[in-house]
Amino acid sequence: MKTPVLKRAIGPDDAVLWQGNELFLLDQRLLPHIEHFIHCEHAKSVAQAIADMVVRGAPAIGVTAAYGVVLAARDAWRQAGQGWKAAIEDDLAALLAARPTAVNLGWAVERMKRLIGTMADEREPGAVLLAEARSIHDEDIAANRSLGDLGASLIDSATSVITHCNAGALATGGYGTALGVIRSAWNSGKLERVYADETRPWLQGSRLTAWELVHEGIPVSLLADGAAAARMAAGGIGWVIVGSDRIAANGDVANKIGTYSLALAARAHGVKVMVAAPTSTIDMDCPSGPDIPIESREPDELLSCGGKRVASMGAEAWNPVFDVTPAELVDAIVTEKGIVLSPDKGKLAEHMA
Ligand code: MRU
Repeated sequence: MKTPVLKRAIGPDDAVLWQGNELFLLDQRLLPHIEHFIHCEHAKSVAQAIADMVVRGAPAIGVTAAYGVVLAARDAWRQAGQGWKAAIEDDLAALLAARPTAVNLGWAVERMKRLIGTMADEREPGAVLLAEARSIHDEDIAANRSLGDLGASLIDSATSVITHCNAGALATGGYGTALGVIRSAWNSGKLERVYADETRPWLQGSRLTAWELVHEGIPVSLLADGAAAARMAAGGIGWVIVGSDRIAANGDVANKIGTYSLALAARAHGVKVMVAAPTSTIDMDCPSGPDIPIESREPDELLSCGGKRVASMGAEAWNPVFDVTPAELVDAIVTEKGIVLSPDKGKLAEHMA
């Protein structure tokens, strides 16, 4: 592990950095108190960093995995020369297996694999693959800026919103999806305040979303996850705005555990639900929510907090880290290509055509 030399002050847009031909990941487990980068030299350490939540958020792990393929190819060329395509397979499998729910990971690795399929065996592959990984990264930022503005256009008049988990710059190539909409809405004077669910057990809301919004100067108040319905009942909330890890072909949405209960509460209180995600999050090969693989993580993540056991010894835990919100509870899916109101299978097929 090396200490990177950063050319500028870091901020939320620096979660994934390719600098001096090396990959650096901002260790999101340590935020907001420690800003520390991990230097990943090999694809397997990239896969481990994704599994361990150093980098998280669906588009960010897709971008990271694409750079991981570059590292894999670099190593395979050093070790096997013209046999690099066979030598890379193990690393690609490790990247694909790092986390199961976010489709962006598989989407990015498959895109890199398609390019590999067109490349010559006898040429050093690093430069061509790096250009593709950079395109994936740049396209994600551009998509977020577009969908941010589109999502903000759905907000009629100044209101407060609730968000869940972290779907910000940290969770993407930059700018953010749900927080992209929030940034755009703030810039156009349509946003009063963001209420951010703290998002147990990893506290992405209090550690990451609050950090990003404070950084942007956007007013943010934290909510205990169980407080969201009461906050809606108190009034003044126009929208719930969230990101997604995978959207099925019928419009069902997988996102951080707790999104489903948030959407149920929103429907009960006449609050609208917006899901902001790039098209790389839409999985047209996945028919509906029950087909989405849901990651379960170690019970200890729930039984402890900040590395300290809080639950009674002997207690067990059920710890799925994503849930599925049925399409009928979603008012709008916003991508870089446009807005899908009251999403269903036909509208999504048209959107993705
Ligand atoms: O477990 P995480 O932190 O990777 O979960 C992240 C989320 O659920 C985000 O809301 C989702 O990936 C969208 S990020 C733009």
